[in-house]
Amino acid sequence: MEKLTISTQPIAGQKPGTSGLRKKTKVFMGPHFLENYVQAIFDGIGGVAGAVLVVGGDGRYFNDRAIQVILRMAAANGAAKVIVGKDGVLSTPAASHLIRKNKTEGGLILSASHNPGGIDADFGLKYNGPNGGPAAENVTDKIYAATQTLTEYRIIECMDIVIGAIGTQSLGAMAIEIVDPVTDYAALMEELFDFGAIRALFDSGFTMRFDAMHAVTGPYAKEILENRLGAAAGTVVNAVPLPDFGNGHPDPNPIWAKDLMDLMMGPDAPDFGAASDGDGDRNMIVGRGAYVTPSDSLAVLTANAHLAPAYKKGLAGVARSMPTSAAADRVAEAMGIAHFETPTGWKFFGNLLDAGRATLCGEESAGTGSDHVREKDGLWAVLLWLNILAEKRISVSDILTAHWATYGRNYYSRHDYEAVASDAANGLMDALRTALLDLAGKSVGELTVAMADEFSYLDPVDGSTSAGQGIRISFTNGARVVFRLSGTGTEGATLRVYLEQLELDPAQMNRDPQEALAPVIAAADELAGITTRTGRAAPDVIS
Ligand code: G1P
Ligand code: ZN
Repeated sequence: MEKLTISTQPIAGQKPGTSGLRKKTKVFMGPHFLENYVQAIFDGIGGVAGAVLVVGGDGRYFNDRAIQVILRMAAANGAAKVIVGKDGVLSTPAASHLIRKNKTEGGLILSASHNPGGIDADFGLKYNGPNGGPAAENVTDKIYAATQTLTEYRIIECMDIVIGAIGTQSLGAMAIEIVDPVTDYAALMEELFDFGAIRALFDSGFTMRFDAMHAVTGPYAKEILENRLGAAAGTVVNAVPLPDFGNGHPDPNPIWAKDLMDLMMGPDAPDFGAASDGDGDRNMIVGRGAYVTPSDSLAVLTANAHLAPAYKKGLAGVARSMPTSAAADRVAEAMGIAHFETPTGWKFFGNLLDAGRATLCGEESAGTGSDHVREKDGLWAVLLWLNILAEKRISVSDILTAHWATYGRNYYSRHDYEAVASDAANGLMDALRTALLDLAGKSVGELTVAMADEFSYLDPVDGSTSAGQGIRISFTNGARVVFRLSGTGTEGATLRVYLEQLELDPAQMNRDPQEALAPVIAAADELAGITTRTGRAAPDVIS
């Protein structure tokens, strides 16, 4: 076993985004690319000598090869121990939990989340810190700086390490502990939720389908839902994780989880449907005939979390990303708890969770979570819904209707324009930036602007500021539109337009969302000139 120091070139321009670094798989597979990035992470966090790290990924194409490189580099860089999920597999929330439970110096998660997997698709790598959450901006800045100055990396030359069997082995002076990916996570879920009550719900004839989308949550969902909670065999579908996710797009929303949606809207719908994404941090919740938007889900969970043992004392507060609808704020205000509006990306929730100021967090992009880990957590959200349903014994649809009657309904939709030329997208945002300076009070179509600004976040815990987090324009009638460019796309720019309309009249709460949002959709186009600037007559994805 030989320790090598390999001279290399910096990989300038590789700035980790809100979810680590995501690139085409072939980029990561290119000569020295992965190695350089891993060394930049190690250097950026101040070295890993003597450190314990967690390593695992969503099992996508190249996951297995990348883990071999990471282990050999961790050993060459002097790490004391690496905890690895068997076969290199760990869902993102399970990795977050292992980092916290074992009080490690952090971990490396191999995933491009909901992006397709395969040699011609996407791969990703991110570093999570000792709190189990995505690295804070000052850390990713240091990693980025290291990518630009790096001249060498360290790696051990050796045979492949066997990661398919549970147990501990050594690689030079470093220990490698292979753990079952599910065990610790399932135990945590049993602590948080009333498994007895959920089991009784299933015993009473309650039916469910969970679509694992051929991604990482298959084994987790099978163990927890079918083995421990007594859901019928076959409740979990697409349960075997595949390197290319069965050629699918493992993003749990009505578009990509269409089979599940069709089932839930059809005559043979079970009581409850749910899905999770590539790495297990996103969730989709759908009742019989009733899709629950992620923004509404966060609001419903905030209002009802006390029905689950972990949250029975109530919540410290609830945090949502800025583009997420204000539905959760309305609940928080009614309950007299704090609510926070943070920039997009889970890392901004970390400080609030660490400081005990928020207990639940959520994003409109199907991410929901709590202070049990420092990532959003797909199965956790499903289990909290099940726990609530087990206590209430009413349908998802009835829960929504009652919720809206109490708090109002925030109609919500996101329109995405994908692979737009970067110049056109930046031009559109620049023009909005200039325009918003004197928008307040102006009328746009049938709406009147109440407030317009570019969101800048002052972190109430550490006092740091994050500017340029999206343009928000709210109207006097309770409507709002937000414009921002995606930070996770791998091709050109993706323009996201987030649309919202508060409705307080119970007679108007069952409209088609696109119809209810029509005036604000029109105002968004008028304000930003979307069609003119991007050449797109309609969004690529409406969710
Ligand atoms: C997207 C979502 C965002 C989420 C991120 C990582 O980022 O919009 O809410 O945190 O993926 O899952 P975006 O592409 O919008 O930058
Ligand atoms: Zn994900």
